[in-house]
Amino acid sequence: MKFLPFALSALVAVSSASPIIKRDSASDANAIVSSLSNIVAKVTTLNNTLNTFKAKDPLNLFTALKIQKQSNDVGSATDSAISTAQASGPLDDAGSLKVALATLSLSTTLKGFLANIESKKPAFDSILLGLVSLSQTTKATLVKQKGQADQLGAVIASKLTPAYQGLAPGVQSQIDGYFDHAIAVYSQPGGVISLPPLSLGKE
Ligand SMILES: *[C@@H]1O[C@H](CO)[C@@H](O)[C@H](O)[C@H]1NC(C)=O
Repeated sequence: MKFLPFALSALVAVSSASPIIKRDSASDANAIVSSLSNIVAKVTTLNNTLNTFKAKDPLNLFTALKIQKQSNDVGSATDSAISTAQASGPLDDAGSLKVALATLSLSTTLKGFLANIESKKPAFDSILLGLVSLSQTTKATLVKQKGQADQLGAVIASKLTPAYQGLAPGVQSQIDGYFDHAIAVYSQPGGVISLPPLSLGKE
């Protein structure tokens, strides 16, 4: 009887190593690649909206709300990519290469987008959304998205073959660097002094 737990765990190990329904590494890789392309598409849409934003434009509050909505879309696309990568089996070399290239392309997209969003900081300082400026909500969003990017990177790396796994930390630290730079820019004091909520009570 005392051998039973061992026998059971050996059985579990064998059955998870060779599942009855064999996973298809190529379609797992394609699913991850398309989830990463979806993030690129959502970031590009957001970036285009960002390019229509101008300080002192009467429509800028409307644009600010659009920016917030499209930032949420980027967040959802990232969560969905995390789930897709989690559901993937281990990738083979061909799949790892495809996914690694898609990750590099996402990194390039993020680099351009984050540089662009940094340039909007002075204008965002002057937009108030309730009690906080658009700069403050943007900083919070960037911090959250960096966390999501780290989570996504870790899940993807765990599916790659060892050679590609070795490249993952370099790409991840590049992406983290872009986020850190943007977060540092958005951590600088802005033109709006936010008042403590109490002083903004009923008139
Ligand atoms: C975002 O817009 C900026 C400014 O037009 C551009 O330089 C950058 O390449 C764009 N990036 C993306 C991902 O669309």
